[in-house]
Amino acid sequence: MTRSRYVLGIETSCDETSASVVQSGSKILSNVIASQTDLHARYGGVVPEIASRKHLETLVPVVKEALAQAGATLPELDGVAVTCGPGLAGALLVGVCFAKALAYGAGLELVGVNHLEGHLYANFLEGPGPWPEFPLICLVVSGGHTDLILMEGHGSLTVLGRTRDDAAGEAFDKVARLLDLGYPGGPFVDVLAQKGDPEAVNLPRAYLEEGSYDTSFSGLKTAVAHAVLSGTAGKEDIAASFQRAVACVLIDKAMLAVRQTGARMLTLAGGVSANTEVRRLALERGRRSGIPVRIPPPVLCTDNAAMIACAGYYAFLRGIRSGSDLNAYPNLALGSIPGLPEESDVEAS
Ligand code: KG4
Ligand code: ZN
Repeated sequence: MTRSRYVLGIETSCDETSASVVQSGSKILSNVIASQTDLHARYGGVVPEIASRKHLETLVPVVKEALAQAGATLPELDGVAVTCGPGLAGALLVGVCFAKALAYGAGLELVGVNHLEGHLYANFLEGPGPWPEFPLICLVVSGGHTDLILMEGHGSLTVLGRTRDDAAGEAFDKVARLLDLGYPGGPFVDVLAQKGDPEAVNLPRAYLEEGSYDTSFSGLKTAVAHAVLSGTAGKEDIAASFQRAVACVLIDKAMLAVRQTGARMLTLAGGVSANTEVRRLALERGRRSGIPVRIPPPVLCTDNAAMIACAGYYAFLRGIRSGSDLNAYPNLALGSIPGLPEESDVEAS
């Protein structure tokens, strides 16, 4: 794998079927995302069996479209990178089995990518803002994770803190349900919050012990439930106040981590980093304290295959390859190499 090559990324860990061709780990030639949101909306959450079946139906056309948009043919590719965990077992298996067959059939190198690492690598794709410099702090805030990570180089990740209960995205989705908004809730709360006063409702901000990098959002969620039931505040104000409370805790902790580790910058990743208030606050705090902040454009914050191709490219450069024994690892830990015995695979989970 040379430095200018094409990697095909494949992402099927949840309810987005995505394929992308990325050149040199940074230039996005295509990034096709087929969302299943409409299918799951009526159930108020992702139904794993429906997700797997839809991935099966959609993946081949999505990959064909990604190749066509990139103007690339299979023999012109150098490698295939596929999300192999964490995520829904059946959904992951569709992507992993397809990627293995494609790599074998076309004689391409294959690498399994950790989905969270993928989110983090969205910062290494071409885009506005300061280019990532190590050591950096990355705040990964998605539907299932809220991780504060120290990245000292490619392949060198240390988790400094994580949520003790709900992930930030999960809190957004639950609050959206309390407010009778649509699914997935984050974007709906974001839109409603634009019309509200973020200081109107006094909501708890859990900073936990002094200096802790962990987060907790369950108390905040309960406080929102009380505010809704009491009927004393409008939905817009509740949404805005909730969003401000989440953003403040997240960005305060991320800035603390930058200062205490001596990191050179802060990067954000994951679906919740598409949030208007989270982005605004991160950039404002960064400007005030002279800390460079990089946030991917919203479309690269939520699930997509370009970030997987990018993470795969850097893994290839480090000499990491997966074999035909690559599996789906629903509980894959950050920083671990997929396939090593300590990982719980589909059979074990
Ligand atoms: O990273 P992601 O697309 O998928 C996972 O890996 O989980 O994150 C999805 C989460 C959902 O909880 C969704 O509600 C939230 O990100 N999200 C948002 C916004 N866009 C997506 N939360 C707040 N504001 C947004 N604009
Ligand atoms: Zn994700």
